[in-house]
Amino acid sequence: MRRYFFCVNAILLLLVLTVSSCTYEDYEIKQGRGIVCSNGMVVSAHPEASGIGTGILIEGGNAFDAAAATAFALAVSYPTAGNIGGGGLMVIRDSDGRYATLDCREKAPDSAMNDMYLDEEDNIIKGMSTSTLAASGVPGSVAGILEMHSEYGSLPLKKIIQPSIDLAREGFPVTSRQAKSLNSVRKRFINRNDHPVPFVKDNLWAEGDTLIQADLARTLERIRDNGTEGFYSGSTADMIVKEMKKGNGLINHNDLENYSAVWREPVTGMYSGYKIISIPPPSSGGVAVMQLLGIMEDMLNEQPVFHSSEDVHLMIEAERRIYADRSFYLGDPDFVEIPVNELVNKDYLIDRMSDFDTLKTSSSANISHGLIVAPESEETTHFSVIDKDHNAIAFTTTLNSSYGNCIVVEGAGFLLNNEMDDFSSKPGYPNIYGLIGGEANSVQPGKRMLSSMTPAIVEKDNNLYMVLGSPGGSTIITSVFQTLLNVLEYQMNMQQAVDAPRFHHQWMPDLVYFEKLEADSVLIRKLENMGHNIQWRSSIGRVDAIRIIKGGKMEAGADSRGDDMACGY
Ligand code: DON
Repeated sequence: MRRYFFCVNAILLLLVLTVSSCTYEDYEIKQGRGIVCSNGMVVSAHPEASGIGTGILIEGGNAFDAAAATAFALAVSYPTAGNIGGGGLMVIRDSDGRYATLDCREKAPDSAMNDMYLDEEDNIIKGMSTSTLAASGVPGSVAGILEMHSEYGSLPLKKIIQPSIDLAREGFPVTSRQAKSLNSVRKRFINRNDHPVPFVKDNLWAEGDTLIQADLARTLERIRDNGTEGFYSGSTADMIVKEMKKGNGLINHNDLENYSAVWREPVTGMYSGYKIISIPPPSSGGVAVMQLLGIMEDMLNEQPVFHSSEDVHLMIEAERRIYADRSFYLGDPDFVEIPVNELVNKDYLIDRMSDFDTLKTSSSANISHGLIVAPESEETTHFSVIDKDHNAIAFTTTLNSSYGNCIVVEGAGFLLNNEMDDFSSKPGYPNIYGLIGGEANSVQPGKRMLSSMTPAIVEKDNNLYMVLGSPGGSTIITSVFQTLLNVLEYQMNMQQAVDAPRFHHQWMPDLVYFEKLEADSVLIRKLENMGHNIQWRSSIGRVDAIRIIKGGKMEAGADSRGDDMACGY
């Protein structure tokens, strides 16, 4: 085992390489935003994770080995969303052009009940679905990462996971953003845990302080040595169940033993000659982006102008209608019938926009879901990887809120998700993202909660063209949609497309969110004159993407809203 250090943007990056046929010195490793590489690239929310993933590529691993390594590295280096206690969704495209999606979304435990978050008067019990042990769904990430790796990976798991074990045990310097973020939830960690957790130290965190996670290192070792059993049974499972019993947690040994990731048929569609491949339910993301693009294909100006009031008004009105559909129709396809083909059908979409007024906003109160006759039977993280053969993977993974429910499994050192809040606790009542759900997304034992995660891959002329995705709760869909248009319509390069200002409408509440610093005031005035109700937000989404450019090279888009970083060679 040899170690190399290199420094970019004043961040010391630790890259652990087991040198076999090649050495680090053989390659020019690049790190930064907007970089261009020829042989492989990882773009993720943390420089440590992008570095570890790239190290695996250099060692001869393919994109899927690198993705598994990056996912484990994010669980260590980016505890706000990287995880082994949460779940995720992946879109995969191999170098032969075959694609697949893997669902490792959390599931409701078997003893979950429809009204579990309601009191005797049927009122929502505040915080129960977000801040308690009952907020956690059965984690899916470990099953998903290992399933993806066993199907598509080429290097042994041991090699893939070891850099993350070392990173957890030896620690890494937190970034300035991470220090602030950890300090902001210090009280939650103290109040919700009856044992010491690595995220709280005697003093407040400062940039450069070392975060060491010894218990997590041991959990990762059990996964290294025993595969999924190292997490879903044995001592890790015992620790999870013991943690649940400290409060109102529901996850038991059976829930853990019975969890499995599910391969699902991708949602695909064409937009102006590009093929979009994305995630099907239980995420709404793929369907919604396909609906939005379907509307744009028919209705966007022949010569679109980025953030012109005409284009933005059209996009807002499309988002309003598509989020209304999301709220009514979408849920776990293993439990409810979802008319996916009808929802993305062009005639349906044209009909959906039939009351669109180019000069005036419509009111969400008057917009409901579309009518389909006889239906056929805000913290997450996304990363994108492409290798030298153009194998590609888009992987979005989440604990739901920042640090999930802020409860660390004692002895196992990882955070639990609060994904149960993505269910509709009570029809018509909003979740933490203001999303209103219906019966299709009610809590049921063993059901997967509806997601907005939208990992996506784009093909041009049957070749790989783009890999992208974003965190951001309900804003994920609009972030991916607008990044796609930025490249496909507004001629931006990948970094520009990712950094460009964004806006968001989700039907209810009837507001258009704009990023505070970036909104153009002429545009805002015009939109307000049309009747749009504008609200400011510090940021929307955090897209990490890669695009293939001339000569098959890879161009990075690492979102400058965060510490996101591309690494490649
Ligand atoms: O699956 C979902 O849609 C949400 N749990 C995602 C949460 C999220 O993106 C939070 N990030 N900022």
